[in-house]
Amino acid sequence: MEKIVIRGGVPLSGSVTISAAKNAVLPIVAATILCDEPVVLENCPQISDITFCLKILSSMGADIRMLSKNKVRFDTRSLRIPKVPYEMATAFRASSYFLGALLGRFHEAHVAMPGGCDLGDRPIDQHLKAFTALGAENTLDGGEVSLYADKLIGSLVYFDMNSVGATINAILAAVKADGYTVLENCAKEPHVVDVANFLNSMGAEIMGAGTDTIKIKGVKYLKGVEYSVIPDQIEAGTYMVAAAMTGGDIIVKNVIPKHLESIIVALRKIGVTVEEFDDSVRVYTTGDLRNTKIRTMAHPGFPTDMQPQISTLLTLAKGTSIVTEEIFDSRFAYAKELRRMGANINVNGKAVCIEGVDKLSGAPVNASDLRAGAALVIAGLAAEGTTEIGNIHFIERGYENIVEKFSGLGANIKLVHTIDYSDNEIKKNA
Ligand code: EPZ
Repeated sequence: MEKIVIRGGVPLSGSVTISAAKNAVLPIVAATILCDEPVVLENCPQISDITFCLKILSSMGADIRMLSKNKVRFDTRSLRIPKVPYEMATAFRASSYFLGALLGRFHEAHVAMPGGCDLGDRPIDQHLKAFTALGAENTLDGGEVSLYADKLIGSLVYFDMNSVGATINAILAAVKADGYTVLENCAKEPHVVDVANFLNSMGAEIMGAGTDTIKIKGVKYLKGVEYSVIPDQIEAGTYMVAAAMTGGDIIVKNVIPKHLESIIVALRKIGVTVEEFDDSVRVYTTGDLRNTKIRTMAHPGFPTDMQPQISTLLTLAKGTSIVTEEIFDSRFAYAKELRRMGANINVNGKAVCIEGVDKLSGAPVNASDLRAGAALVIAGLAAEGTTEIGNIHFIERGYENIVEKFSGLGANIKLVHTIDYSDNEIKKNA
């Protein structure tokens, strides 16, 4: 079993380069199913969610070639069966994107209900609403969603709430439909825009991505491209918070500052200095952290994927802070782990109430989901003593080379392989 072991208290320094956005790459990999020619992604991060996505495509018959560590060539022309293997589909949330992509190409799709980080109820009713509006019938049998459509006809879809996944899935299903589709009340996240840009670079006709209303004119053919995905705003935000938490001074490279606006505003409210440059930011603190109130919202509001990280920072801010989670039902599993480290943080309905303390102390803790794991890394970097983080597979789903990147910033952090003395291990040795 692997753990991340950190000896905290080292102020981070130097520079770190951000990888491509996980939540853009995942739907873009699924979208290669729609392409009529080979596609090359220049900067595919080596993280387990993406590796898994490639395995799904490959298991369906696609020709996937690693041209270099991060450069991947996709040729999905040989795909014939519009079905994702059941067990693979249940492993993560992004499998839902195969519904839209397979429906868009084959007018048929079979994908198990998705899995993903346990953040409370995560239905796909809005995805199905879009597919139905385009002319697909959907059934659920044995945990697998099946979609069938004689043909897909452009339509009006009004989402009941902002949903990143449903907005992107509707685009995937509509991009080759007959006629015009109008999507209203859309998610506006940067990764929604990047998926639209990727498809448009292949010849799709998608207008308005990044606004409430997206218009799509169906096309017949999508040509091959070489595409570079936008940097990951959440990975960048995670390193920015880590610099603030350790009293460090770092440069975060390969970012789009506009995508970081709400994170920068929040950090400045807490007393962190952020200097913006064309494709990088400098982050450092010059005094005590200040308590504040933060509420997660759909883009351009403060991102839910940064909620565990900013809450962790506020555990060291004098006074009372309140962080309210408006997007997911339950995204505070990290709080009990932070209490092991001396944080004064308590869940109260949709919010956490945080009383700043002078310091955190290292302890053995466990990640419960991707961003909770990132929060524990940040806490460990600031804590006095040693922190051992288990269940790091959650962290590896979304952070490329996190141990190397933090080591490069001066952190005392390493990946440790421990023997799992569980029953079956002892039996084997008996
Ligand atoms: C995407 O999840 C991201 N995952 C999440 O990132 C991110 O937190 C989320 O968007 C919000 O930004 C991927 O892109 C793989 P939603 P998604 O549909 O698409 C409800 C991370 O840490 N909803 O915008 O599942 C839903 O339950 C991960 O990188 C419905 O009710 O998020 C949630 O409460 C975690 N019905 C809210 O809407 C639906 O049909 C927002 O969900 C769809 C969603």
